[in-house]
Amino acid sequence: MHTKLSLSEIRADLNIISSTCTINPLSNDDQSKLIKDNSFPVKFVDLWLPDFVDVVKENVILKMQAWLNNLVVGVDNDWIMLCGPIGVCKTALATMMLKYSYCIMRNKKIRAMWQQQNPLVQDWNLVRFWSSYDVVKEHINNKDRFEGGKRAFILAIDDITKPSNDFYTEVLDQVLRYRELNCLPTILTSQVKSVGLGDTFPLPLCDLINGNSDEVRITGDSKRGG
Ligand SMILES: Nc1ncnc2c1ncn2[C@@H]1O[C@H](COP(=O)(O)OP(=O)(O)O)[C@@H](O)[C@H]1O
Ligand SMILES: [Mg+2]
Repeated sequence: MHTKLSLSEIRADLNIISSTCTINPLSNDDQSKLIKDNSFPVKFVDLWLPDFVDVVKENVILKMQAWLNNLVVGVDNDWIMLCGPIGVCKTALATMMLKYSYCIMRNKKIRAMWQQQNPLVQDWNLVRFWSSYDVVKEHINNKDRFEGGKRAFILAIDDITKPSNDFYTEVLDQVLRYRELNCLPTILTSQVKSVGLGDTFPLPLCDLINGNSDEVRITGDSKRGG
């Protein structure tokens, strides 16, 4: 039997993360830079893990915490695929996870540990947030930025099944295949569960996503107002 974690317990666990790694709250300047350079969704950038305690189920919080802890101690993570209907906070969770990841990777010791395992981890290119539409937009408009996102140490792609055309599918496949090959942590969100991806994507892309991802189902009512 699980009892719901209290906010203070979650905070205590966050302190465990922060005792091995400095998770400084971002200064206003850092936060503005994060939004600008990495395309973070502005409206979710203030949210931290404890803000989700009363919003999503405990197993989701624990999964997120475990994933972040692995990042701190240098354990390779599966990709996260946050699945669920509209309004259950997938985009907000992905933003929060990427922001923690950024804070963790700002720690020099942790970054050095990952750089030893994976020389691709570059100080200037730690995280990137893409809406699924950004995947093709960056590919077409700015090759350097596209490559920066594809190679970012941690990349989040939001609503992966949204633009369902062949070109998107091809570019997404290219990005994810690169990330699989180079063991780069990736956070995906989707309204479609892993078993249903075949309705949108060709089999090799479904296999690529499902073979690398830990599906985290978010249930409950939409949190969108109005
Ligand atoms: N931690 C939170 N606490 C309260 N409301 C939240 C939280 N995170 C997101 N929301 C609200 O929930 C709604 C849906 O969030 P969103 O992440 O866009 O969902 P999804 O991506 O699953 O459609 C938004 O209106 C947002 O403001
Ligand atoms: Mg969303």
